[in-house]
Amino acid sequence: METYLLETKQLTKVYRNNGSKVHALQEVDLAVKPGEMVAVMGPSGCGKSTLLHILGGLDNPTSGEVHINGQRLDKMSEAQRAVLRRKQVGFMFQAFNLIGNLSVGDNIELPALVAGLSVRQARKRRDALLEDLGISDKSRNIPAQLSGGERQRVALARALVNQPTILLADEPTGNLDSKTAYEVLRLLRQTHMQGQTILIVTNDPNVASLAQRVVFMRDGRIINETILQERDDTKTLLVELLNLEGG
Ligand SMILES: Nc1ncnc2c1ncn2[C@@H]1O[C@H](COP(=O)(O)OP(=O)(O)OP(=O)(O)O)[C@@H](O)[C@H]1O
Ligand SMILES: [Mg+2]
Repeated sequence: METYLLETKQLTKVYRNNGSKVHALQEVDLAVKPGEMVAVMGPSGCGKSTLLHILGGLDNPTSGEVHINGQRLDKMSEAQRAVLRRKQVGFMFQAFNLIGNLSVGDNIELPALVAGLSVRQARKRRDALLEDLGISDKSRNIPAQLSGGERQRVALARALVNQPTILLADEPTGNLDSKTAYEVLRLLRQTHMQGQTILIVTNDPNVASLAQRVVFMRDGRIINETILQERDDTKTLLVELLNLEGG
C-alpha cells in the first residue's frame, strides 16, 4: 500500500446560508505523496479554496475523511486542529496576510515562537529563510514598504518557518505581475526541489506546469487528473525562470 502524506476520502462540504445550501465539495478523493507538488485548477466557485481551508484545518468538512501524516484531521477538536495547523501546515494566500505593524523579520519569526521554538531557534530559521529567499536586507522593513513580490516572499518564508509537512498555497501569484510572479514561482520550485510537499491552487497554466500532477475541479468534484511529463514547454518556462534569476 502506498503511503500518502495527505489523503481525503469522500470529502464533502455543504455551506448553509439562510436556508439555501451550497455543495462546495462533493465526495472528493485526493491523495498527495511525500515530496509531490500538486496543482489544483478549476473555474471560480468550484471549491478550490474550500478544499485548501479544510486540508489546512481552518474549516470543518461536513462529512468524509482527511488524513495528514497519519492523523485524522476530521476527528480532531478545534484545539487539536490549531496545533496541527501551527506545526504541520504552511499557508500562502493570494493576499499576503502579513501583519502590517510587524517587521518582515518578526512576521517570519512569529509562527515559530507561537509553535514553541526558542527565540534563538526561531531567529536562526528566520535568518536562513531571509537569506534563501533573497530578502535579508528587508528584515527590518514593514510589509507596506515592500513590493508585491517581496511581500509574497515574506509570506513564503512565514509559511515555511515551522518546516511544515505540507505547504498549501491559494493562488499565491494571483495578485502579481508576470515577472514578479515568475520570481515567486522560482522560489516555490526551489522549495519543492528541497523536498517540500506542495498543494497549490492556481488558474495559471505556467504555475501548474511546475507541478507533477494537476487536479481539475468543477462544481465541487475532481473531474480529471493529469500527470505532467517532462515536456518541452515546461523546459522553456524553466529557462525563462533561470534568465530572470540572472537579472
Ligand atoms: N463561508 C461560506 N459560506 C457560504 N458559501 C460559501 C462560503 N465559502 C465559499 N462558499 C461557496 O462555496 C463555493 C466554493 O467556493 P470556493 O471559495 O471554495 O471557490 P474557489 O474555487 O476557491 O473560487 P475562486 O476561484 O473564485 O477563488 C462557492 O459557491 C462559494 O460561493
Ligand atoms: Mg478561491
